[in-house]
Order: sequence, then structure tokens, then C-alpha cells
Amino acid sequence: MEYITLRNGVQVPKLGFGVFLMNEPGEAEAAVLDAIKVGYRLIDTASRYYNEEEVGAALKKSGVPREELFITTKLWYKDAGYENTKKAFKLSLEKLGLDYLDLYLIHQPFNDYYGAWRAMEELYTEGLIRAIGVSNFYPDRLRDLAQHNEIAPMVVQRETHPLNQQWEAEEWLAKDGVQLEAWSPLGRGKEEILQSSILKTIASTHNKTVAQVILRWFMQRKIIAIPKASHLTRIQENFDIFDFTLSTEEMALIKGMDQKTSIGDVLHDNPKMLDILGQFE
Ligand SMILES: NC(=O)c1ccc[n+]([C@@H]2O[C@H](COP(=O)([O-])OP(=O)(O)OC[C@H]3O[C@@H](n4cnc5c(N)ncnc54)[C@H](OP(=O)(O)O)[C@@H]3O)[C@@H](O)[C@H]2O)c1
Repeated sequence: MEYITLRNGVQVPKLGFGVFLMNEPGEAEAAVLDAIKVGYRLIDTASRYYNEEEVGAALKKSGVPREELFITTKLWYKDAGYENTKKAFKLSLEKLGLDYLDLYLIHQPFNDYYGAWRAMEELYTEGLIRAIGVSNFYPDRLRDLAQHNEIAPMVVQRETHPLNQQWEAEEWLAKDGVQLEAWSPLGRGKEEILQSSILKTIASTHNKTVAQVILRWFMQRKIIAIPKASHLTRIQENFDIFDFTLSTEEMALIKGMDQKTSIGDVLHDNPKMLDILGQFE
């Protein structure tokens, strides 16, 4: 495994495992257990993925020492505000069966996220969270939060994949020492990414799959990636990316694919996002 060191010295595995939309009974538990057996140590969930208990059950069953695991969950925007955040954090911790969290993220830049951030700063200072950050904050909201609080976010989770590469965002992140983490790193497995002729050609050169090339690209860009996969074969495939290197030319070819667009129209500066998020209640 390769690691990234956050601004506060905390080490994060560069490749993790996401569990969004794993909601069939037993699904998240089985997948996380498989992922841990394969070697993943970073697990990314959220209170509104409704599977924190199953993730917690898998962590316990895995027998892997707690300090080897890196567990992330997220605060839903309806739980924002100082008091609500403290309650939501406690509930997530209970569901996960943990006594501390590795990374806690504000899931969306909505509602009272300043109150939420103050609560998270306290929980961090008390040692209950090893790193704090945000998700779906664009550079304007992120810089505002970073510059008007005692502790700036250490991580931002954003939609990032070959069609939405976030180079401009990364320039802003560098100014505040914030690490980028990619959600939907495989572009949700959509054809326009996995069937790309550019990626297919690079994949065949290395005797790898397109998914492996994309994940390797993240490792070389020093971005944390958290692909989701439901079956053991893909969970293994996505982990088998540490034995090859993309050339400078191949990295440049992938850079040329950037369309700076969200693959599912998931835009947190669009007011309609609040209606979309309502579906997860
Ligand atoms: N912060 C946020 O707002 C936010 C938003 C979205 C996601 N996330 C996080 O990011 C994680 C990953 O994002 P995501 O689940 O949206 O999308 P993703 O990881 O980009 O893609 C997952 C899709 O790709 C397929 N897939 C996985 N490995 C593959 C392979 N080797 N070959 C072909 N297809 C493959 C999966 O199929 P199968 O499942 O059928 O194997 C699934 O349909 C989530 O699970 C979640 O933890 C965060």
C-alpha cells in the first residue's frame, strides 16, 4: 500500500474502499470483509449510506487491529450545527462500534456547516477524530472555511475521475494544505470512461484493465481514491495496481481527457442539489 501524509502528520492509505449504495441486508458487511481480506485498510462510509452498523460488524469480524484501519464517515447536512454534529458524531461512532474515527467529513456545503466545523474542531482536539475535512465543498466555500476557523480542513472529498480531473481545485487546495480525495474515481463505472479508447490502449500496454489504469493514475497524482465494487473479483482487480507505473506520456494522454464535468450532474453549486439530496432522507 502507498500512503499520503496529511498536513497534521496523519498517514492515509492512498487506495480505499467506498460503500455507497450498498444497502441490501448483509451486502456492506460482506463487501467490507472481502475488501479487508484483500488488503484495503481505508473504508469510506457516511451516516446517510445507512450501512455504518454493517461496516462496523465487518471491522470487528476482520480481526485487523484498529490502528491498522482508516475509517471515514460523514455528517449529513441536515445534522449540521454545533449540538447536532456532536450528537450525529456520537451516533456514527456507536454504529461503527469504534471509540475514535480516522476522518470525519462534512458531507455537503449546506445548512450550518460553521457550527458543525466548530464541533468537529473540538472533537479533533479531544482526540476523538484523527483528521477532519469536508466533502463537495468547492474552492470558494473551502477557502472561506479554512481562513475563518482555527483549523483548516485537512481533506476534501470531490468527484474526481478522468472526465472531471479537478486540476484547478488542486491549485487552491495546495494554498491551504488540503488533501484531495476522489469520490466516484471510476466515474461510477460508466461506459464513457471504462470504454475510452485512450484508456483501453494504455491498459493493453500494461496488461491491465481500464479500472486499474485509472486507479494507478490517482496514485501517481497523489490523490486518495475510494472505488466501490460489489464483487470479490473487482475488489481484487482494483487493489492490484501497485506493480506498474504509467509513463509521463500516458499521464499526459489521460490529462487530455478532462471535460471538467460531473458524470451524474452532481453539482453542489446548483440549488436543485437540495431536492436531489432529499431523496436520501
Ligand atoms: N462524498 C460524496 O458526496 C460521495 C459521492 C459519491 C461517492 N462517494 C464515495 O465514493 C465511493 C466510490 O464512488 P461510486 O461508488 O459513486 O463510484 P465508483 O467507485 O467510481 O464506481 C463504482 C461502479 O463501478 C463499478 N466497478 C467497480 N470496479 C470495477 C471494475 N474493476 N471494472 C468495472 N466496473 C467496476 C461498480 O460495479 P459493482 O458495484 O457492480 O462492482 C460500480 O457500479 C462511494 O462508494 C462512496 O464511498 C462519496
